Amino acid sequence: MVKVLFVCLGNICRSPLAEGIFLDKVAKAGLADHIAADSCGTGGWHIGELPDPRSREVAREHQVVLPSRARQLETADFSEFDLIIAMDDSNLLDLQREMKKVYSPKAALYKMRHFDIQAPEADVPDPYYGGKNGFYDVYDMLDRSCEDLLAFIKETYLTGKP
Ligand code: 4NP
Repeated sequence: MVKVLFVCLGNICRSPLAEGIFLDKVAKAGLADHIAADSCGTGGWHIGELPDPRSREVAREHQVVLPSRARQLETADFSEFDLIIAMDDSNLLDLQREMKKVYSPKAALYKMRHFDIQAPEADVPDPYYGGKNGFYDVYDMLDRSCEDLLAFIKETYLTGKP
């Protein structure tokens, strides 16, 4: 099983959406037995909460289910997950700092838009303090990025599997 963890700041806007979009693509590709995904936040303000209502609405409009309940990043995540995907540079810096505390981490760290052909290495901007349109923009970025991320995982981790 290849395990992917999506990480943002609060785990209520961007990373739950990334998780839901990615899992939808995994299921549609018939790879649910081979790839698992989860999400978390570097911060702990929203632990236990459902995704932000605006993320839930945008997901519903695309028939994407969001299974997330917010949780905070744990040290054990670096040994548990194969890929850890940061939404922006600030998340990536936090992850790099935390990963140094782990003696032998398994995870490879990436930025989400490393996989976005339209703007590789750009941030997925935090939509929390903006309007609904920001959530549509984030959805499109995540949708493109998750498509390429899935292709990358198939090529790199699942060669030989159906
Ligand atoms: P997220 O957005 O990192 O995409 O979940 C945020 C949600 C909440 C806060 C910041 C960002 N907050 O400061 O509470």
